[in-house]
Amino acid sequence: MSKDTFRNSKILVVGGAGFVGSNLVLKLLEENPEEVLVVDNLLSSEACNVPVASNVRFLCGSITDDAVLRALPTDLDYAFHLACYHGNQSSIANPMDDHENNTLTSLKLFDRLSEVKSLRKIVYAAAGCAVAEKTYDNAVATREDAPVSLFHDSPYSISKLVGEMYGNYYQRAHGLPFVKARFQNVYGPREILGAGRWRGTSHTVWRNVTPTFTWKALNHLALPLENEGLSSRDFIFVEDMARGLMRCALAGVPAQTYNLASGTETTIAELAAVINKATSNPTLPQLFPARDWDRSGKRFGSTQKAKSDLGFSAEIDITEGINILVDWTMKNRELIKTCMERHAPFMVE
Ligand SMILES: NC(=O)c1ccc[n+]([C@@H]2O[C@H](COP(=O)([O-])OP(=O)(O)OC[C@H]3O[C@@H](n4cnc5c(N)ncnc54)[C@H](O)[C@@H]3O)[C@@H](O)[C@H]2O)c1
Repeated sequence: MSKDTFRNSKILVVGGAGFVGSNLVLKLLEENPEEVLVVDNLLSSEACNVPVASNVRFLCGSITDDAVLRALPTDLDYAFHLACYHGNQSSIANPMDDHENNTLTSLKLFDRLSEVKSLRKIVYAAAGCAVAEKTYDNAVATREDAPVSLFHDSPYSISKLVGEMYGNYYQRAHGLPFVKARFQNVYGPREILGAGRWRGTSHTVWRNVTPTFTWKALNHLALPLENEGLSSRDFIFVEDMARGLMRCALAGVPAQTYNLASGTETTIAELAAVINKATSNPTLPQLFPARDWDRSGKRFGSTQKAKSDLGFSAEIDITEGINILVDWTMKNRELIKTCMERHAPFMVE
């Protein structure tokens, strides 16, 4: 097998029913792998999001479950670890659940995979937000070697960093072929508002800013701009993300970190304008104060290393990506509505 393709490979995708995971599985299938095994406990996803194909197998369960770990094939070629406790706000409300699904998942998976001698690479979904400098001044591109603070605003952020540290440990001590892909803000099709179980906060429904704004704009509601929409993020389209993860698996060097980013800084106010235009939303945005837990301010990722070492660059700009997302959201309106309404009894807003 050439090292530039997943053809005939056996691949594990933990969290493969989720937003990024399901897009990754679809992209992997284009390369005719022997098998893609999806392990997911549907905590923040839906079974219908797992792509259907003769070479996709879905094991519904937690990767912290010893029986699930024992059932993993011993001849895996690649693994992607995308499971997490979604997201920041829910982790603040439920730190123990975050630990179970965002920290223990990494430790138990890496421990198990360190016994799999055929494994060529395990790619971990690390979070750029856990590393970026907290600033409201002009942001500079966050590099992979940026210093990491010991003070964090959410258990989610801590868990994502601990995952990096456990992986580094298993790489050094046991030779686990561990590569870190540091995500910026991913957006695009297959992120279902309200997917999965209630996780203690309204952010079970209102997941990330992009699908939330898209849904509200399609319903002609005012887009809420916290801190006047001055915060900025680096938005990367999910198909680009899937390609980047695959490059990490094929060309990434164990122990190394690669930012998967667009390298473009977009303010939340700019994002709202793009979404309002794409949806022809006639309602003006509404301004709110900053969230009390969120001190992240402005940020975007450096793309240099991924470009030079992996040959990876994001290709889809925000306007094109949002148009694709709007189209997908309209086509999947009923599914999204059903998932959102499941949590209606718990919602306070
Ligand atoms: N989406 C982003 O912008 C972003 C940014 C930074 C990092 N990340 C990371 O990327 C990964 C994927 O994120 P996403 O946006 O697709 O979220 P997601 O919630 O759609 O996907 C996470 C998946 O993990 C599953 N899961 C949770 N606990 C599990 C367990 N114990 N065992 C097995 N599966 C479990 C969930 O059911 C879900 O399908 C996560 O690790 C996340 O921390 C995402």
